[in-house]
Order: sequence, then C-alpha cells, then structure tokens
Amino acid sequence: MDVIALDDPTDPQIRGWHEVLAAVHAAEPDGEPAPQPHQTAARLLGAEQGSRQLLWTVQSGPAVVGVAALRLPGESGAGRPGEVDIRVHPAHRRRGVAARLLAVTADALRADGRTSVIAQVLARPPAVGFLEAHGFRLVLTLQGLLLRLSDLPSGRVAELVAAGPPEYELLRWSGVVPDEYAAALAKAKHAMADPAQYDGAPWDPDRVREMAEMVAKRGDDLYTVAAVRDGVIAGFTEIVVPADSPGRAAQYDTAVVPEHRGRRLGIWVKAAMLGWLAEERPEVVEIETDNSGDNVHMLAVNEELGFRKERESREYLAQVADLPTR
Ligand SMILES: CC(C)(COP(=O)(O)OP(=O)(O)OC[C@H]1O[C@@H](n2cnc3c(N)ncnc32)[C@H](O)[C@@H]1OP(=O)(O)O)[C@@H](O)C(=O)NCCC(=O)NCCS
Repeated sequence: MDVIALDDPTDPQIRGWHEVLAAVHAAEPDGEPAPQPHQTAARLLGAEQGSRQLLWTVQSGPAVVGVAALRLPGESGAGRPGEVDIRVHPAHRRRGVAARLLAVTADALRADGRTSVIAQVLARPPAVGFLEAHGFRLVLTLQGLLLRLSDLPSGRVAELVAAGPPEYELLRWSGVVPDEYAAALAKAKHAMADPAQYDGAPWDPDRVREMAEMVAKRGDDLYTVAAVRDGVIAGFTEIVVPADSPGRAAQYDTAVVPEHRGRRLGIWVKAAMLGWLAEERPEVVEIETDNSGDNVHMLAVNEELGFRKERESREYLAQVADLPTR
C-alpha cells in the first residue's frame, strides 16, 4: 500500500480519484450531490486562487482506494491553517488507509511551516471517529439547509420586500462589488459569524474582490444584494449560481452589522435576492446554505424563509504538533 504524490495528475489518476469520490458519495446519499467527472478534474488540475494544493492517493494494485487533498491558503508559515480532505473507498476502510494519508499530509504541513489544520466533514461516525482519534477537536457545527423555491407561498417574497425599513435602500450587483462600495462591503464582512474567526485572514477590499474574481474564474455567477444607509452597507447577502448545475444555487455570505441588527434587514436582503433571482435566473429551483449551529438569528431567518434542514456537518481543527508522523 503506497502513498503516491500527484504533482501533475494524469488522466487515469484523475479517473481513479473520481471513482473513489463517486463510491464515497454513493455510500452517503443524503450528503452533498456527487461531483461530475469534469468537476473532479477541474478541482485536481487547478488550485483555488490564492492557495496551493497538494494531492496524494493510495493504490491497491491498479485501483485507487484512498485520496487526500491539502489546501494551503495564503503564504507559507503559521498565519493560516491548512485544509485537509481525505476520502477512502467504502470497500477499503478500517485498514489504515486514511491514517497513512494523514501522516503524509502532516509532514507536508510541517514542511510548509503550518501549525494548524482544519477539516470539514459530514457529522457521521467514520469522519468523526477518525478525526477525534487523531487529535482534531470540534470548532463549528454547520446545519446544511435547503430552500425549494416552489415551496414559497405566492406573494410572500414581494410582501417581505415591501416590509423593508424605509430609512434603508436596496442595492444589487452581480460579480465584483462596485469600487465605491468595496471598503463598505469589506467592513460589513467583519460582521459575519464565520470560520474566518480562526482562519486569521482579515477582510479588506482586495480580499472581497479576489473572492468575486475566483467565482467568475470558475465560470459561476455571483449576485449580491445590500441594504444601504448613508453610504454604509448595513447588511448584505450573496448567492452563487454554478455554471454546471444552475438549478441549485449556493448561499454564500450574509451579515447584518451589529448596530443595524433587529430591524429585519437580514430577511429583507434575502427576500430581495429571491425576487431578483426569480427575474434574472428563473432556472434556479433550490438554494442550499450552511449555517453555524449556534447562529440562532440566521437560522431563524432561514427558517422563516422556508429553508429546511438537510444534513449536519462539522468543522474540526488540529494542531499540527498533535498529528501523527510517518
Ligand atoms: C473517515 C475515513 C477517511 C476513514 O478512512 P479509513 O481508511 O477507514 O480510516 P483508518 O483505517 O485509517 O482509521 C484509523 C482510525 O480512525 C478511527 N476510525 C476510522 N473509522 C472509524 C469509524 N467508522 N468509527 C470510529 N472510529 C473510526 C479509528 O480509531 C481507526 O483506527 P482502528 O481501525 O484501529 O480502530 C473514511 O471513513 C471516509 O472516507 N469517510 C467519508 C469521507 C470523510 O468523511 N472523510 C473525512 C475527511 S478528513
């Protein structure tokens, strides 16, 4: 059982990787939809902007039985954690495949000067058991929610939009934020209760633009609706419509800055977004979102809009010093 580093993945290696993902998804049918082969290839052949990616597989004979991807965001060093994703074919579990891959990943993290690493997983025994046995601790519980747009009572969206507070106005744009609002949006992003709290990367106008450019580079469309008062963004919400599967849009960030909370701005911007999507992208039939389990206000807003719980996922963090060595 050898661990192979994929510096430049070949077509058979990409196919082998995809077969593992397909088998893992088939064993967890209530998880996220399985990727298409070309999505797996795109992910393996290009790291996200602003990060590097290292890949390994474990083979048994000609078949790939386990895969590991390590994302290294930003600069080398202790500033930001790495992000690990390990998957083992269901027919080859409990034989130490993931443990081998984690040890190789840990060496790479040390070589890059990282001191911590995160993993986002479905809240299921294999992932939870594996991570907790290897020095990871739970930092965040995420509720995976889904809104079927056909479930929305007719007139509901228009009613919510009309009920917005009169001192605020709605602003919307697609793609990168207009220059005059870049600093205001970066400020509003600080209001998010999100994993970046320990990710350590501050929001500034450049990071805001980079995020939007990254979405465009993938070929996906980003839509933003903001509530503005005196030139300040008091709250905003973002939706991404993927080029590959435009029927299912993904909720990105939503936040209302603390001094503007309690005025139903969160539900207002989200309702305005639903109205805009219905005009602009009628092919969108559902919207998925992840909410931090302790973010009761956001959960309440989503519940009122008709989002229903689909699954629970968790984010784990480990100190690299606590990870096994080879
Ligand atoms: C989680 C996963 C990667 C583990 O792969 P694996 O090759 O079976 O794991 P290993 O054989 O290396 O297990 C090492 C140890 O982890 C723990 N572990 C693994 N699976 C477990 C389970 N189902 N329940 C409890 N503990 C478990 C055990 O301590 C195990 O040691 P043991 O077998 O001697 O008891 C695999 O189940 C998987 O692909 N799950 C779906 C994808 C996923 O959630 N990945 C995690 C992302 S980081």
